[in-house]
Amino acid sequence: MKDQVADLKQVAEQEIIQGSKQDAKLGAKQEAEPRAKQEPVWEIIQEQVRERVPDEIISERKSETYKNNFFSHIRPRFVPAGVLSVLYTFCLGGLSFLAFMVLGMTGLLLMFHYQPGDSNGFPSVLTIASVIPYGDVIRNLHYWAGQIMVVTVNLHMLRVVWTRAYKSPKQLNWLVGVALLILVLVLDFTGYLLIGSQESGAAATVAVNILGQIPGIGTGLAQILFGEPSALSGSTLVVYVWHCVGFPMLALILQLYHFWRIRRDGGVRPL
Ligand code: HEM
Repeated sequence: MKDQVADLKQVAEQEIIQGSKQDAKLGAKQEAEPRAKQEPVWEIIQEQVRERVPDEIISERKSETYKNNFFSHIRPRFVPAGVLSVLYTFCLGGLSFLAFMVLGMTGLLLMFHYQPGDSNGFPSVLTIASVIPYGDVIRNLHYWAGQIMVVTVNLHMLRVVWTRAYKSPKQLNWLVGVALLILVLVLDFTGYLLIGSQESGAAATVAVNILGQIPGIGTGLAQILFGEPSALSGSTLVVYVWHCVGFPMLALILQLYHFWRIRRDGGVRPL
């Protein structure tokens, strides 16, 4: 009888040990679960390259992966039907970005020959327009892309107002847009100063004087943004660096954030 009880005790103890081992395993598995939600990046890319669109609704596990994956973000498998309607957006934001890219490329080419400064600005523009091969084409492309961008950005903003797309949850992206609008206008203006003509000199003088009216910081701010432009040219090294590096970089970063936020806010669709 004693032996039987001892045996039973041993069996029970073994069961308890095994049970707790299984529990521990289960716990570890459950703990590992959130990490297992991530699908390998190459599988996602493969699936997308193959254009394999599944019929079933995307699982929670996958949507987690897509949310955190850059490639899935820029090329999602599901796009709400409304987004594809050209008549909703007129693609004005996309056109603005296209103009921005043209500006970047043509601007880079212009930098090979443009020389900023009081006495260098205007003559180097003339050289680009009349001596450098294809210089006038590049300059005109740059000029017109700039003007087109100003128009498309303004129309894009009007479209956003018209469709009330500035409302929650898109308020932050609206503010990013306002910053972009200001940047685009400032880029257009600094580009005009870089021509280095008498008109540019007059425009620079007006801008410096307006900024100078701001109490305390005005004169310093004008110096930081424009340097010391002459009334007859407007082209300075300071304006050049802002126009070619500072403002475009800022605009690019803001635009990328703008695009990222569009999807984060639920995509372009009627609210
Ligand atoms: C560099 C300038 C800009 C670029 C490249 C740009 C680009 C875009 C793009 C590609 C879209 C997707 C839909 C569409 O094409 O309309 C979009 C949406 C949006 N943009 Fe802009 N944008 C710019 C400036 C602005 C400005 C000035 C505002 C407003 C002040 C703005 C506010 C918005 C808002 C709120 C949305 C979401 C619209 C919706 O969900 O229907 N953007 N933008």
